[in-house]
Amino acid sequence: MKALVLAGGAGTRLRPLSHSIPKQLVPVAGRPVLFHGLDALREIGITEVGIIVNGVGRQIRAAVGDGSEFGMSITYLRQDDPLGLAHCVMIAQDFLAGDDFVMYLGDNIFAGGLLTPMLEFQTFRPAVQLVVTRVDDPSQSGVAEVENGRVTRLEEKPKQPKSDLAVTGAYFFTGEIHEGIRNITPSKRGEWEITDAIQWLVAAGREVRAHVFEGFWKDTGNMGDLLDCNRALLEGLVSDQRGSVDGSSEIVGPVVIGAGARVEGSRIIGPVIVGPGCVIRGSDVGPYTSIGAACTLTDAGLQNSVLLDEVSVHGVRAIEGSLVGRSAHVRRGPLRLVVGDNSRLEVPL
Ligand code: DAU
Repeated sequence: MKALVLAGGAGTRLRPLSHSIPKQLVPVAGRPVLFHGLDALREIGITEVGIIVNGVGRQIRAAVGDGSEFGMSITYLRQDDPLGLAHCVMIAQDFLAGDDFVMYLGDNIFAGGLLTPMLEFQTFRPAVQLVVTRVDDPSQSGVAEVENGRVTRLEEKPKQPKSDLAVTGAYFFTGEIHEGIRNITPSKRGEWEITDAIQWLVAAGREVRAHVFEGFWKDTGNMGDLLDCNRALLEGLVSDQRGSVDGSSEIVGPVVIGAGARVEGSRIIGPVIVGPGCVIRGSDVGPYTSIGAACTLTDAGLQNSVLLDEVSVHGVRAIEGSLVGRSAHVRRGPLRLVVGDNSRLEVPL
């Protein structure tokens, strides 16, 4: 079975970060979101993958390469405008060649793997096998009404959801999905919705099944969800110390310290990942914090946060629930701000 991974789209909810980095490359628990997805696909034996990228997709191509690092062979498929999930399948038609495939949304995180839904798909051979999960607010997702494992109705982001089962970003398809797509038109938001194509198959009496996923699932579309994913994935962290920790530092719980990193006079409460080449001096870090490569923290305090590469934090002790972009500098001083378009900022009174 092939996989079609969707890594295009606009990433509007993660601005301003997504102005300079595709949202699928934002790291959680030390690895880009997209890499966790490729790991999950490799785990269920998939090696042939098409990745939809926005335009040339320079950053995604540079990060994933030919896929050999993942034991996969990757074909890049270019989408010039984000015209919808079903539009991605149209673009990929030659690559998919009418075969079964799993469509995976590159901004989704599944902790717990996709083996059970894949086996269900292979056992029952429905036209479509969805993976759904119970959520508090289904109005932000596709919503499935399900009876005895069979989908009876699907709606995209309904104002008044008729069930609490959200459609997650892993869809197992037979070639029948192409017929569903041929029978839809763009939605009110101007997108070719995969939900509409699947609903067309449901209405035509084809078998569409839903596996209720019990593990952790999130779409990392916004900052709060991204931090939730970071926390969930860090739960399973195993300590690994490659860098140096001096005698006046304290390390508690699972902590990864990357090669060449130096921890001096600091307290690190796991789970925490300190990227390679970081310098952490006189600081308190953790829990639930991922620090990218080559960051410098002095006299800093940081928890439940994600720092991308080459960030420096000096003299600021109360950072929590934060996401800091590449090469950003955070330091103590009078409140003087340079705030990017569409940023969100919370300042204590
Ligand atoms: O995350 C699950 C949800 O994903 C489902 O519950 C919804 O039914 C489904 O429509 C989808 O909704 P979103 O609004 O969250 O999709 P989003 O626009 O965030 O796109 C999902 C991924 O697909 C993301 O990695 C970007 C990529 N994408 C998206 C579009 C619209 C593309 O590659 N091309 C596109 O044209």
